[in-house]
Amino acid sequence: KTTNPLAAHLLGWYDRHHRDLPWRVGPAMQQAGQRANPYHVWLSEVMLQQTTVQAVKPYFQKFLVTWPTVVDLAAAPVEDVMAAWAGLGYYARARNLKRCAEAVANDHGGLFPDTEEGLRTLPGIGDYTAAAIAAIAFDRPAAVMDGNVERVISRLYAISSPLPASKPIMKGKVRELTPIERPGDFAQAMMDLGATICTPKRPACALCPFNGHCLALREFDPENFPLKAPK
Ligand code: ADE
Repeated sequence: KTTNPLAAHLLGWYDRHHRDLPWRVGPAMQQAGQRANPYHVWLSEVMLQQTTVQAVKPYFQKFLVTWPTVVDLAAAPVEDVMAAWAGLGYYARARNLKRCAEAVANDHGGLFPDTEEGLRTLPGIGDYTAAAIAAIAFDRPAAVMDGNVERVISRLYAISSPLPASKPIMKGKVRELTPIERPGDFAQAMMDLGATICTPKRPACALCPFNGHCLALREFDPENFPLKAPK
């Protein structure tokens, strides 16, 4: 299977417009053979679950300075981890973070499992986080779905069934689109597109790499997607 032309087009956009985020390894560094660090990817994805990119940045840096590896984090007193987390909210995430670090350190020799299935066995790692780490850190063509990706896909294909029933349909579309080459960049490109261009209100369709292919733009109003079940 070669890269779908739509995916190739999105990757070209990502090469030009990707956000420089501290947990990312840019396309140029990847060309030079550098991979994203699974510990960094995991930590950032857990922090980003209910928190914005801007709020996460300083916490991410502080955690890496304090605990440079997952084994360091596993050995830290839980009170120190909770104190470092203070301000990020949703404190169950911090407790799970510590438990997951312990599982990686004690049961996996300090190395994150390199498949979606293996990652899903870890405490606090669900479908989204397992897929994100597998794609971004291990180049697995996992279908990474979050709210941003759902919005982009529902518009691109003008998905006519409402959330949440449409989720399996959207996941199938993402699976079809996800390239064997650069699946991690593809996932992050979808998230960047959803965060910066394909926004919930007033999407910047004129700047969108998909604007020649987007069914919601051609036939409807993109703002109405994803459709929601009537309350
Ligand atoms: N939101 C959650 N994870 C992200 C990532 N890896 N890149 C951009 N936005 C995100």
